[in-house]
Amino acid sequence: MSSDKPSTASPMANLSVGGKTIDMPVRSGTVGPDVIDVGRLYKETGCFNYDPGFTSTANCSSKITYIDGDAGMLLHRGYPIDQLAEQSNFLEVCFLLLNGELPNEPEYEEFQLAITRHTMLHEQMTRFYTGFRRDAHPMAVMCGVVGALSAFYHDSTDINDPEQRTIAARRLIAKMPTIAAMAYKYSVGQPFIYPRNDLDFSANFLQMCFAVPCAPYTVDPVIARALDRIFILHADHEQNASTSTVRLAGSSGANPFACIAAGIACLWGPAHGGANEAALNMLSEIGTVDRIPEYIKKAKDKTSGFRLMGFGHRVYKNYDPRAKVMQKTCHEVLDALGIRNEPLLQVAMELERIALEDDYFVEKKLYPNIDFYSGITLRAIGFPVEMFTVLFAVARTVGWVAQWKEMIEDPEQRIGRPRQLYIGAPVRDYVPRGQRG
Ligand code: ACO
Repeated sequence: MSSDKPSTASPMANLSVGGKTIDMPVRSGTVGPDVIDVGRLYKETGCFNYDPGFTSTANCSSKITYIDGDAGMLLHRGYPIDQLAEQSNFLEVCFLLLNGELPNEPEYEEFQLAITRHTMLHEQMTRFYTGFRRDAHPMAVMCGVVGALSAFYHDSTDINDPEQRTIAARRLIAKMPTIAAMAYKYSVGQPFIYPRNDLDFSANFLQMCFAVPCAPYTVDPVIARALDRIFILHADHEQNASTSTVRLAGSSGANPFACIAAGIACLWGPAHGGANEAALNMLSEIGTVDRIPEYIKKAKDKTSGFRLMGFGHRVYKNYDPRAKVMQKTCHEVLDALGIRNEPLLQVAMELERIALEDDYFVEKKLYPNIDFYSGITLRAIGFPVEMFTVLFAVARTVGWVAQWKEMIEDPEQRIGRPRQLYIGAPVRDYVPRGQRG
């Protein structure tokens, strides 16, 4: 296949299959690689495009997030992630992702009010929790309760009504922290703590998780700011596995609550959002700096089945820009909490140093990803490991919702229906049970 890109408006790529050559349009975005539009490939050649894991496949056009994996760059609506993490706040980033522009003062006020006014859950939903075992993983609870939202908020499930789409988006962003905090409270056997609308997004989440009715609870502003930054870092990440799941589920016309529940299920996997839990477990297992070489050796041995969790990324072939901010946030949180010489931080920093100098990791361009330092930070704040992916889900909800809305509003949108390379038995006749060999 060759790509011929003259300076005309519509460059073409041509492909020869079985003696027939077809032209396919090459489309350019604002930045990033061009795409070859293979939409007519099957019709004109009878062949499908085969790309397991979608390593070379663009599934949609999007204006929300851009990643340059080689440069280690992440932009939301054009703004670099480090600038947003340092100078913005989570709700402002939510507005940006949903609407395309940063809000002015009145827009921000209105959005903030809309989110804080929707933090409470329908009271009947609290009974859902008691149906789960106390030892259920909170992500299992999240899948169930978020899916159940569509049974409670019927007035925002019509995907063809733009106003209902906006209400559903805001409800999801506003209620997700409440659902997550209740999942946590249920797992530790404490009473649910209702949201407080006078607190900002992250402070409110901390108080719903850590306050108890019998004692006053004051949110530490340094921790609230750190958590807010962690939420910003996780807010969206282009067409990752869970976002693609949300888009695919939504492409059939499913309601937004059901689609986000599907995204949560996908996020749970250890190769995706579950990696922060796996990374902390791995650091605990290593335990001390002297055991690092043993684990590096294991990670390089293909037969061991072991990987350095929190290392490597499908898109980043450079330092994950979120990991840099996360590492700084980790130090800030430990300092604020007066935690000196945290052994896991020492293991993490030494592991990172050794891996970044090791030929195996250098050649394969394996760098720490966002999950490498997030576990240590979240544990220091007081969250148990089972809650790590839940916090990721709280933050990523806005990304899922923004991408879902963009898909519904895209005139090119069709039901997502991949094809396959069939390698099973060809047609054969049914043999009655008694006559089988
Ligand atoms: N440790 C050791 N080797 C690794 C690691 C790792 N963490 N990650 C990749 N490799 C090796 C692979 O064995 C493979 O080697 P090979 O080419 O000799 O066969 C090569 O690097 C490429 O790896 P792939 O699995 O093909 O890369 P892919 O893009 O499919 O996977 C992934 C990316 C899933 C993130 C992978 O790096 C991984 O499993 N990392 C650990 C889990 C993790 O931290 N996930 C979080 C991702 S970030 C997020 O979801 C928020």
